Amino acid sequence: MDLGAESDFTQFPALIETDKESYFLVQGKDGYMLLSTVCPHHGGEVVDWGTCFMCPDHGWRFEYKEGVCVNGPNARMWSTNVTIENGRLIAQEPLP
Ligand code: FES
Repeated sequence: MDLGAESDFTQFPALIETDKESYFLVQGKDGYMLLSTVCPHHGGEVVDWGTCFMCPDHGWRFEYKEGVCVNGPNARMWSTNVTIENGRLIAQEPLP
């Protein structure tokens, strides 16, 4: 999935919305990643909470860099790697 020109993204996390889904583009330690807003707990909608991501359904919170849960069990937001091809950000595979 072509997310657009890398130069268009200046702030992270960046909300990416398609017809069916929404995601957060983040900068992790190994580069860009796309995180699904579908909560890995029971499918709530994860939102940007200002200093982290948060799912209002049961309060799980996830850090901004790679979507790792910081207040619950060993869990993380569903993610896919993003590569740079000719200056454009390309998400590598569909998310669940
Ligand atoms: S569904 Fe997100 S915390 Fe439970």
